[in-house]
Amino acid sequence: MTDRAPQLVSRMREFGETIFAEMSALAVATASINLGQGFPDTDGPAEVADAAVAAIRAGHNQYPPGPGIPELRIAIADHQRHWYGIEIDPDTEVLVTAGATEAIAAALLALCEPGDDVVTFEPYYDSYAACIALAGARRRVVQLRTPDYAFDPDELERAITPRTRVLLLNSPHNPTGKVFSRGELEMIAQLCVDHDLVAVTDDVYEHLVFEGEHIPLSTLPGMRDRTLTISSGGKTFSFTGWKVGWVCGPAELVTAVRTVKQFLTYVNAAPFQHAIAVGLGLDDGYFHRLNADLREKRDRLRGGLAAAGFTVLPSAGTYFLTVDIRPLGERDGLAFCRSLPERCGVVAVPNVVFYDDREAGLPLVRFACCKRVEVIDEAVTRLKGLAR
Ligand SMILES: Cc1ncc(COP(=O)(O)O)c(C=O)c1O
Repeated sequence: MTDRAPQLVSRMREFGETIFAEMSALAVATASINLGQGFPDTDGPAEVADAAVAAIRAGHNQYPPGPGIPELRIAIADHQRHWYGIEIDPDTEVLVTAGATEAIAAALLALCEPGDDVVTFEPYYDSYAACIALAGARRRVVQLRTPDYAFDPDELERAITPRTRVLLLNSPHNPTGKVFSRGELEMIAQLCVDHDLVAVTDDVYEHLVFEGEHIPLSTLPGMRDRTLTISSGGKTFSFTGWKVGWVCGPAELVTAVRTVKQFLTYVNAAPFQHAIAVGLGLDDGYFHRLNADLREKRDRLRGGLAAAGFTVLPSAGTYFLTVDIRPLGERDGLAFCRSLPERCGVVAVPNVVFYDDREAGLPLVRFACCKRVEVIDEAVTRLKGLAR
């Protein structure tokens, strides 16, 4: 090693190891309950797992077609029609990606010139900031303000500059659990139309809405031809490790994303693409049960966190609940999360890592509720010990 500047390019220097890697490693090292990273601790539906095994046995193990296997692209188009009344052409308006993560990266790399602006809301999912930086673009954030995560429409309009190319929206929203209302989406859509922006929407929690409804931005007036809609089989089928995601939108935009995507991974997850196609075709009962199960877990964790002394902020969807730690006499969420495994054997994530305005995020901590009820109960028992 020399004492030269770090090898990492300057635009990536603010991004070290992700907080999820740090906290999950801490969970393993301290044998703690991991309510940090958002992955379920039970498998998804057996018929979907069986379809993956069958696909491997049937020899679907080589590179799949670049845009994704036709069965999955058709299943995605059917899903969009069935749930939202959206008509898309599976051949030209759907692209299968290595999780939503690759779709987000490829979309931003495809759409942003260096120096362009991307507007998004804070707190934001951590890959957004990194991918905006990779594209050489600049993030302009508008804050979702506690306690109800409302945003100021004027602030949003002011965040849009002549260099703004993309508005990046996540609803249902990680980490807050906010589900954007129709009124808010209409406001956002109008700004996209007025300022000729492309909307990139991250809808990975589309089936995990507990209050309100998921309204794809692309269904609002003027948005079909300017929206890329991203989702993933990870959350909907509880197979987060398979990394089968997709992006839908007008052919011209999807083609742009595909041009980049083909040089990132080219393709991925051939047998799992077959399995997720089977999953998307499950009857509505599956999706309703998934939702009911997570809602129950959210309610259970919410009650437990409140009983442990935290102020629990509203969460209308996703895997997550955010708490304010100040009622426990704490104020620094990062320090709190780093000490929590040692103090009581539970891992959580400090929301400050999702904020540019670090002061706003400092006292907030995110817990994942997508765990077995006995795990949630044990975590709550441990957390209750903190107040003693
Ligand atoms: C908001 C959001 N977008 C994208 C992803 C990543 O999705 P995938 O695992 O399909 O890449 C996650 C995963 O936690 C997420 O919370």
